[in-house]
Amino acid sequence: MPDASPTKWHLAHTSWFFETFVLEGTPLDPSFEYLFNSYYEAVGPRHPRAARGLLTRPSLDEVRRYRQRIDECVLQQIEGGVRDDLRARIVLGLHHEQQHQELILTDIKHLLGGHPAWPAYRKSPAPASGRAPALGWIARPGGIVEIGAAVPGANGEPFAFDNECPRHQALLQPHALASRLVTCGEYRAFMNDGGYRRPELWLSDGWAEISATRQDRPLYWRDDTLFTLDGGRALIDAEPVVHVNYYEADAYARWAGARLPTEAEWEAAAAAVPVGAHDNLADSEAFHPRPVADAAARGVSQLHGDAWEWTASAYLPYPGYRPAAGALGEYNGKFMSNQMVLRGGSCATPRDHIRSSYRNFFPAGTRWQFSGIRLARDA
Ligand SMILES: [Fe+2]
Repeated sequence: MPDASPTKWHLAHTSWFFETFVLEGTPLDPSFEYLFNSYYEAVGPRHPRAARGLLTRPSLDEVRRYRQRIDECVLQQIEGGVRDDLRARIVLGLHHEQQHQELILTDIKHLLGGHPAWPAYRKSPAPASGRAPALGWIARPGGIVEIGAAVPGANGEPFAFDNECPRHQALLQPHALASRLVTCGEYRAFMNDGGYRRPELWLSDGWAEISATRQDRPLYWRDDTLFTLDGGRALIDAEPVVHVNYYEADAYARWAGARLPTEAEWEAAAAAVPVGAHDNLADSEAFHPRPVADAAARGVSQLHGDAWEWTASAYLPYPGYRPAAGALGEYNGKFMSNQMVLRGGSCATPRDHIRSSYRNFFPAGTRWQFSGIRLARDA
């Protein structure tokens, strides 16, 4: 699958990032610059993304030795005292590696999920099935809100990617957000109501896609069974639906008489809810979204973890956004066309990687990430 990469490639690429942007010396192996550059035009030509699966060399052992050598060099730099600009690049390299930790899981899932026997990545006991609490609507006020992150470093501000900056004002209309994510049971009702056969529910691009691919269910669904990183098992109605693309999320919302939240609506709600120890992020090692734990929970739940939430917002620069100079300016800025923003992190996102201002982004047809649905509606 062109979007997914082998684990070995992720391991080498994340060290290549430190070698290229922090060490800046003669490469340990010049061929690695070509093999493990992901998309940095300013660094030079590279191996095509869709052909990463064909890289039988270097071996995993060689990649591990490369990682160890780069780690040693970066540690030497840190111990010798680093300039502020290099310190910022080391921090960026750590956050970059966390992004690839998530991709390692979703890419392994895609590979194993393509095997007809649905082999397990690891085997843990099947979760209990239960009932999801009824979906509630939480009224949210209109008005001017501040979203986005302050530029990091300037006044001791914590790390944020450049695409989260600068902090700025946004205008909200009064609206309501759903109290939890859409469940598999609810999504099944949409399917059973002819959701995939009713063009009036779909954006034109989405209808063209499901017509061409005969897509009629989320990725990893097979009748009443579901592929997870624990292998195949029965679908659980109370669990959040995941592996839907933007078109599916949008069509479901239209069927439900609702819409998707904008990223400003989402962030204004999430900013008041810190990432919690019980949020289902990668550290909990469930590696699958869980039903809402507390049926009596008030407010907007499941904001952080479980599933990335498709928003109705196109991935665009914030007012005043300026990408970094040089090759690192390619990290986020050059992707600001034809992609939609997702918020909140998933069951595969490291806990200390996510925050309320975090902007993930994917093309509308993408669904191999843990992407789910939160509804919103106008007041
Ligand atoms: Fe990368």
